[in-house]
Amino acid sequence: MQIGFFDSGIGGITVLHDTLKVLPNEDYLYYADTLNVPYGQKTKNDIKKYVFNAIEFITQQKVKAIVIACNTATSAAIEEIRAKYSIPIIGMEPAVKPAVKTKKNIDKRILVTATALTLSEERLQDLITKLDNEHVVDLLPLPKLVQFAENFEFNEQIVLPYLQEQLSIYDLSKDETIVLGCTHFSYYKNIFRKLFSSDVNIIDGNNGTAKNLKKVLEEVNSLNEGNGNISFYCSGVKVENKAKLNDFYNLFKRLDAIKEIN
Ligand code: DGL
Repeated sequence: MQIGFFDSGIGGITVLHDTLKVLPNEDYLYYADTLNVPYGQKTKNDIKKYVFNAIEFITQQKVKAIVIACNTATSAAIEEIRAKYSIPIIGMEPAVKPAVKTKKNIDKRILVTATALTLSEERLQDLITKLDNEHVVDLLPLPKLVQFAENFEFNEQIVLPYLQEQLSIYDLSKDETIVLGCTHFSYYKNIFRKLFSSDVNIIDGNNGTAKNLKKVLEEVNSLNEGNGNISFYCSGVKVENKAKLNDFYNLFKRLDAIKEIN
């Protein structure tokens, strides 16, 4: 049986990309809610509605587990989704925990980037209250990065000035770790890298999520059945158009290239 991946758009592909390395012998269903993206600036209630519809559709396609490859959807709805379905549901949250745990220099700071919804939600606020005793965590929403990614805008000349402007309020030499807390942001890891020296960690939760999925599948004895096939759905409609499918596959190539740079 296949594994469902869900995101508001193409952000979750960055998680699936890492998952294919950890679990190459599985089949996948990727669901992008392209009719409703972006989620990040919508209300929690609207997001919940979208997530419930998408997950209901995905479970009807026969999946053995679902990865909510979206920090925003996880913040808004994961508890209720878990309460409703009996298959494993794996969520994502900004990698604040590893950033705090591996912190070396007491004078340095951690910058957490995510959507406005994720940053304002109780889930992340509670985590920060618990972990950030030194008050070294800064929070920055970057909504335009989601828009750029959904428009397949990866041009450094367009994206870099936006990041420079958004980051201009910070003294970047003070940062030790940058947390990419929205799955869309991982497409721009190479551009973030241009703004920070090589000793600054730029981390996302993608590999951790892939490993977590593997562990959960091992626990329920449900590993290794497929060939790494992926079927793509946009808001409930199967993607059959060749050009559109190519757009998806090209994202994996783009992410391969970014991995080589870092
Ligand atoms: N990719 C999503 C996340 O990880 C959200 C993007 C959006 O729809 O605003 O938070």
